[in-house]
Amino acid sequence: MFETNNFISRRYQLQAQIVAKRLPQVLQQRGLEAVFAEFLLTSTQGMVLLFAILDLPRVRRLEAYTTPELLHHLSTELQGLPVFLSNSNGLRYAIPLSPLPRLPKLIPFPGVSVGWAQLGVNHSGETISQPWSKLGHLLVAGKTGSGKSVFLRLLAYQALTEGAQLLLVDLDGATFPMLANHRTLLDPIATTPQAAQATVERALGECDHRAGLYMPMDGYPESLEEYNRTIVRHGSDPLPRLLVVLDEFSALMTTLGGPKSSFANRVAELGWRGRKFGVHLVFAAQDFTKQVVGRVRDQVSAAICFRVRSMEAARAMGC
Ligand SMILES: Nc1ncnc2c1ncn2[C@@H]1O[C@H](COP(=O)(O)OP(=O)(O)O)[C@@H](O)[C@H]1O
Ligand SMILES: [Mg+2]
Repeated sequence: MFETNNFISRRYQLQAQIVAKRLPQVLQQRGLEAVFAEFLLTSTQGMVLLFAILDLPRVRRLEAYTTPELLHHLSTELQGLPVFLSNSNGLRYAIPLSPLPRLPKLIPFPGVSVGWAQLGVNHSGETISQPWSKLGHLLVAGKTGSGKSVFLRLLAYQALTEGAQLLLVDLDGATFPMLANHRTLLDPIATTPQAAQATVERALGECDHRAGLYMPMDGYPESLEEYNRTIVRHGSDPLPRLLVVLDEFSALMTTLGGPKSSFANRVAELGWRGRKFGVHLVFAAQDFTKQVVGRVRDQVSAAICFRVRSMEAARAMGC
């Protein structure tokens, strides 16, 4: 009856058999045909999952198989086991038989790795990282207290170990007090919307400056790495990366006229111009409306979601 891809304890095998018997009964009670192609019991990432795979060609009235109300009913009949719908590969019900893995309360920083930005740790304990040369711009979302500031600080410190320069917008002053007057800041930390506007202009000014340096080079460099390779060969100092953190970005955007304002246009300009000059923009906020995300989505290479307000909020960011 089961396809099993690796060793799974007897207890879960028995439980899977009970579930596989009960699911079709509940569907039939509801006047639906129990058209399952197969049941797949699998253990992955520390979880035991049973997949009940629907035989799509035989399913009539597909919508009746996917309602939240049906999933809730199935879950109730299975003594509260969660029942999820998965449509990444055909249509299947996914029923975790083992407890959902718990994320650790405290995740220690894994330590600096030269040339790489460490972004997080997944539930199996593996570090998620990106080489700075591929990092691009980032979107960071999360409710108050979810960990944005701690993350932004870790990113800033990693950038410093790469020799980067900083431009920081910190409206409530709570994220970067320890970096006030730091020698790598191109401008003092911006704590007002007006200062934030000036910060974006400062970053654009830096793009102009760097464009001037790139200009006389043979075959205009496409990236900071390319420029630095050449310049170092000629005995000059490499250009540093520039990390621009815009904390409370949504509030900032609202105060400065919204997604259609000249501020929004200047930020977008910084986004597309900055890439080849080693400028990394980090947009952080509790929430990003569709309009705000719309202005920056094409620019960011990754979105990092801490705990957000709702499923829709996470989806709006592509998380
Ligand atoms: N990586 C982490 N591991 C453990 N605790 C964390 C981590 N990041 C944040 N925290 C805890 O959450 C609290 C709030 O984090 P903070 O970054 O200030 O949130 P936010 O800026 O989203 O409001 C911190 O004081 C800290 O105790
Ligand atoms: Mg914060």
